Amino acid sequence: MRLEQKKAIVTGGAGGIGRATAMALAAEGAEVAVVDLDGEAAAAVAAEIRDAGFRAIAIQADVSSGADIERVVATTVAEFGGVDVVFNNAGIIRRTTAVETTAEEWDRVFGVNVRSIFLMCKHVVPIMAAAGGGSIVNTGSGWGLKGGGRAISYCASKGAVVNMTRALAIDHGPQGIRVNSVNPGDVNTGMLRDEAQQLGEDTAAFLAEAADRPLRRMGDPREIAAAVVWLASDESSYVTGSALVVDGGGIA
Ligand code: NAI
Repeated sequence: MRLEQKKAIVTGGAGGIGRATAMALAAEGAEVAVVDLDGEAAAAVAAEIRDAGFRAIAIQADVSSGADIERVVATTVAEFGGVDVVFNNAGIIRRTTAVETTAEEWDRVFGVNVRSIFLMCKHVVPIMAAAGGGSIVNTGSGWGLKGGGRAISYCASKGAVVNMTRALAIDHGPQGIRVNSVNPGDVNTGMLRDEAQQLGEDTAAFLAEAADRPLRRMGDPREIAAAVVWLASDESSYVTGSALVVDGGGIA
């Protein structure tokens, strides 16, 4: 049990990667607040974790909202007594070029993917610092480290996540707070199906292309979760500001 007594927040906790990570953190002993825009789905994940014999609560929230983030942090502290681990993972993608993207869509992608992490850190860092430290993991993307086609707002937002992570690590390392990004390649979740739909492509063909990488398959959400558990735990005690790539060799 690598996370015994730890209290964790997972955003996008009802989605593919978030759900797998919430389960994995709980299985390592953490108490988990499952946060998602879809409150019903978050409640189902929390119930699944409790059914497995672990501790979890669900919180419906829009992570781009300052008021919602404040409520998430306050609720978690009230229920669990603190926050030691945060997985800032909620994210959305728009498969459009700059010409095709509206200013509103751009702002929404940045609100969910980037502003959310700033807001969460604004509220959890003081709590972690007062407790002597903590671990924050942010979900970037392979496309945050290199470019990708027809996803201008997403690529820009994930690049921001990677570099914001480094800046946070510099600012808050002296307080014992480690901040890292996990950068997945194509992982088999609802997001890929959403992308196929947005691009008007056949889902099976899109998924087959996503599997075309050195390890010859897409990632499983549990493989991202395993990396997040490691970054959340003391096993990675000297790792901060890093951009960990978990992508089956797709980026190299
Ligand atoms: P997903 O679509 O299965 O899960 C995303 C979750 O975030 C959903 O449950 C959704 O309801 C929630 N969400 C969306 N907007 C929200 C908001 N405003 N407030 C709170 N929750 C919100 O997708 P997946 O794949 O699990 O994505 C998780 C993260 O992984 C995202 O940040 C994504 O960009 C990133 N990622 C995913 C990759 C993939 O191939 N699936 C590759 C690289 C990065």
